[in-house]
Order: sequence, then C-alpha cells, then structure tokens
Amino acid sequence: LRRIGVLTSGGDAPGMNAAVRAVVRTAAFHGLETVGIRRGFNGLHDGEMGLIGPRDVANIIQRGGTRLLTARSQAWMTPEGRAQGAEHLRHWEVDGLVVIGGDGSFQGAHLLAQEYGIRVIGVPGTIDNDLYGTDYTIGYHTAVQTALDAVDRLRDTGASHERIFVIEVMGRHAGHIAVEVALAGGAEEVLVPERPADLEAVADEVQRSIKRGKTSSIIIVAEGFPGGAEGAASAINERIGEETRVSILGHIQRGGSPVARDRVLASVLGRAATEALMAGRSDVMVGEVGHMLNFVPLEHTWTRRKDVTDTQYDTAKLLSI
Ligand code: F6P
Repeated sequence: LRRIGVLTSGGDAPGMNAAVRAVVRTAAFHGLETVGIRRGFNGLHDGEMGLIGPRDVANIIQRGGTRLLTARSQAWMTPEGRAQGAEHLRHWEVDGLVVIGGDGSFQGAHLLAQEYGIRVIGVPGTIDNDLYGTDYTIGYHTAVQTALDAVDRLRDTGASHERIFVIEVMGRHAGHIAVEVALAGGAEEVLVPERPADLEAVADEVQRSIKRGKTSSIIIVAEGFPGGAEGAASAINERIGEETRVSILGHIQRGGSPVARDRVLASVLGRAATEALMAGRSDVMVGEVGHMLNFVPLEHTWTRRKDVTDTQYDTAKLLSI
C-alpha cells in the first residue's frame, strides 16, 4: 500500500473533518500518501481529486461540515458511473479508499469493492446514528446537543405561554436523536418510527397531564414517525381542542462545531480505518462498540437493524409523569 484515498459522502455530519484529518495524518505517519476526493462519489466520478498532506488538514478538527465537500450521487448509481470512478482511482494509483458517510455511501463503497476489487473501509459519519455495528456514529452527539439547545429554548417560550410544543427532529427512518433529546430535554412524549404509537392515546395522555397540573408540554417527534410533527399536532388539537405549536428543527441539526465526543470518535475511527486498509481489510466498516473497535461487513450496516435503546425510551416515558 502506497497511496490511499479519502472522501466524505451523503449528509454532512459534525466531526467529518476530524475524521479526514485522522486519515491523512495516520497515513503520513506510516509513510503513505493521501488523495483527497471532493464532493463524495460525484467527485470521484468526475476525477475531482488531489494529494493532501498533514498541513492541509490543520485547523479543521473543530469545524462543522466537511472541507472535502459532500454530495448524494446519482452518477454512482449507474455501472458506467462507477467504472469511471474506478478508472480515476487507477489513474491516481490509489490502492485503498476510506469512505466517511452513512448507509447510502456504504452501498456505493460496497459496489466499488465488489465490482472492482478496490479496498474500501467505511467510517460511520451521519447524525442519524442508524448504522448497525457501532454504538455511535460521528456527528450524532453534536446533533443531539444542538437539538437539545433548541428544545430548551422552546421550553422557555412554551412554559411562558402555557402551550404544547411539538418539535420535529431529524433521523431519517430512525428515532435515536429523538429518544436522547426527549430524555435529556425532559419531554412529555416521544414519538419514533421504531415504536408505533396511537395519536389519540397520546392526546388523551396530554389531557391527563393537564389535569395533573402540567401547564405546558414538549412532544418530540422523529421525522420518520408517520405524519411527523404536523400530524401529531393536528391529532392532539382535534382530539382535545388544545392549541399546539409546531417547530421543525431541520438542517440546523447538521451544523456547528463537533462536540468532544464526536471529535474523539472521528479521530479514533479515522486512524483505525487507515490502519485497517494497511492490514489488507476491505468491504468493512470500522465502528466502536463498548469503547472497543468493531469491524462489520459494510453490508450489515444497512441490512441489520440498530434499535433505539429501550432503557432510554422507557425512562423518558416514565419520567414524564
Ligand atoms: O442523514 C442525515 C439527514 O440529515 C437525515 O436526518 C435527513 O432525513 C436527511 O439527511 C436530509 O437530507 P438532505 O440534506 O438531502 O435534505
């Protein structure tokens, strides 16, 4: 192994820069060169790449977003698109590739390994925390903190107006962000796709909580819950006649400086990914389970399910009494 490539792909996540830094510096430590690929698989398809060294990744460990830029690539969906990308890797003499992203990115990486025998290692980078094989993904902790800050602010105004706030958080098809934000934010209710809930029962529970003396409520809804926050808010309004306000937090959850935990995870996994390539591994993701490195076939990261944590979900419910 003489030269490796690195790219970030899919939705950006705070800590991706720290991961790129770790890959580039680990490679340099071991005497390898790194080719930085811009705009994810789109850039690989278009040949947007160049050598980067340790000084090029200075002063980025603390920055949100991704300096390498990212994209959701249509070109990569076609065999011709992938053939062109593989050709660019050959031209640049890249012997192995680190892909930092989520399940869509890993599917793209898996195809590259399967079809062209190119060594690829996945590093979990997504705010959604929806990848099997790692306790946490890079960016998740920051997104939870950002959403939590917003919930605290909404609680101030909600309490002052004695209102019900229905707040939608990201997570695509998963409820990890929602459950942690609900527990940490002291929410009255949490709705996630992994746990079906009857909205009429939720509305009745809100009414009972008003009878118990609660003057305002926070309901956290994962974007993947059927109907989202708007659906939950109108169901409550129709059933018990209470006025609600909806706040959809959106992409604000993807930005900002990564918290320590995401920088640490990104640094450890970026290093491990580079050394895994050197050791000849391929078509796997490196994650962390119980503070130990954990390698899983890329395919398992999206075919197997990582459920929300029951103790967290149940505790959020219990404490909302
Ligand atoms: O995967 C990260 C994520 O932010 C999801 O939570 C969300 O559903 C999606 O990306 C939004 O994608 P886009 O930025 O393309 O609108």
